[in-house]
Amino acid sequence: TTTIQVGMLGLGTVGSGVITRWPQAVTTIEETQGIQLQLTKVAVAHLARARQVPLPPETHLTDSITAVVADPQIQLVIEVMGTLTTAKQAIVAALTHGKSVITANKDLIATAGQELIALARREHCDLFYEASVAGGIPILRTLTDSYATDTVQAVTGILNGTANYILSAMTAGQSYDQALTAAQRAGYAESDPTNDVSGLDTTYKLMILGQLAFGQHLTREQIRPVGITTVTAAQCQFAAQHGWQIKLLAQAQRHADHLYCRVAPVAVPTTQILSQVQGVQNGVAIRSQAIGESLYTGPGAGSTATANSVLNDVLVATRRLQQGVRGTALSAPVQQLPVTNLAA
Ligand code: NDP
Ligand code: HSE
Repeated sequence: TTTIQVGMLGLGTVGSGVITRWPQAVTTIEETQGIQLQLTKVAVAHLARARQVPLPPETHLTDSITAVVADPQIQLVIEVMGTLTTAKQAIVAALTHGKSVITANKDLIATAGQELIALARREHCDLFYEASVAGGIPILRTLTDSYATDTVQAVTGILNGTANYILSAMTAGQSYDQALTAAQRAGYAESDPTNDVSGLDTTYKLMILGQLAFGQHLTREQIRPVGITTVTAAQCQFAAQHGWQIKLLAQAQRHADHLYCRVAPVAVPTTQILSQVQGVQNGVAIRSQAIGESLYTGPGAGSTATANSVLNDVLVATRRLQQGVRGTALSAPVQQLPVTNLAA
């Protein structure tokens, strides 16, 4: 049996979910691929902090990222600590040391994904990031694999679990602050929830979807998001009484000579299925030439669902390590159209 050593950066909401589901993933990978996985090192910021989940017996906790990404025995690194600069340095170091990388970091993939994908290719390493968009919904591989022979015309999504949780709770009578606190306690919100409510987290996810659906490199300046900070409980309830649900929608539509993009709160009629996506759920509606309309819904944040996406990437990456075929990332053919939005 081949043994593959794995290292992980971060042991918060997502990292703890990975640990909880680790034994099942190990068993599946051993049974289906004959590979024994060992999680040998996990890096955290605060070594002395009490942990909610017991680590596997072979796992050492460290506060040194280098100890993980430069360990010659480790072949696969899972990055679930967040941050931009530190995570980017860590992933660059891991790829440069020849390791496959799995990340849930949408901020980083949206802003530096193309650079990291190019590095992964040069270093003959894999870089997967399924958990970065829509948490537990396997939307990225669906887009790159299942739509490969189709042409995507439009993507419309509820892509932030925290914002959707807040809007749903306000519609049900809670205040904005109560709902945000509950979303933070549940582990849905970012450690700093500013990006969740400002629309920037949704924008990062739309940038990743835009890349995979249309091959289009998008910037946050092109999208110019409007968040939910000025939406009130009274507005949500008024809308609901009149047959609408307020949702923070991400929209990208391919037109003949431009791509229309928008991130903003929108009153969605209750006749549309996306209006029924409630709480931490996310929804992604795709319109494409061959399939027509299709909708993918599921938990958009949270420990277990997100960890499942991470572990599915682990499964694919270990299979490819075993086969000796590496140097890929989720990506699509590139095109570049002018971008318009409501603010333009
Ligand atoms: P948390 O804040 O819960 O956990 C972050 C972890 O990273 C902590 O264990 C922390 O250590 C560790 N960490 C932070 N900085 C460093 C550092 N410099 N060196 C070593 N370890 C460090 O974050 P989440 O688990 O919620 O999110 C992790 C990533 O996953 C983020 O990129 C997030 O955007 C993404 N994500 C999160 C989802 C969710 O539902 N929460 C869903 C999808 C993606 P310590 O515990 O010691 O403080
Ligand atoms: N904070 C994010 C959300 C986590 O609420 O959707 C999932 O990316």
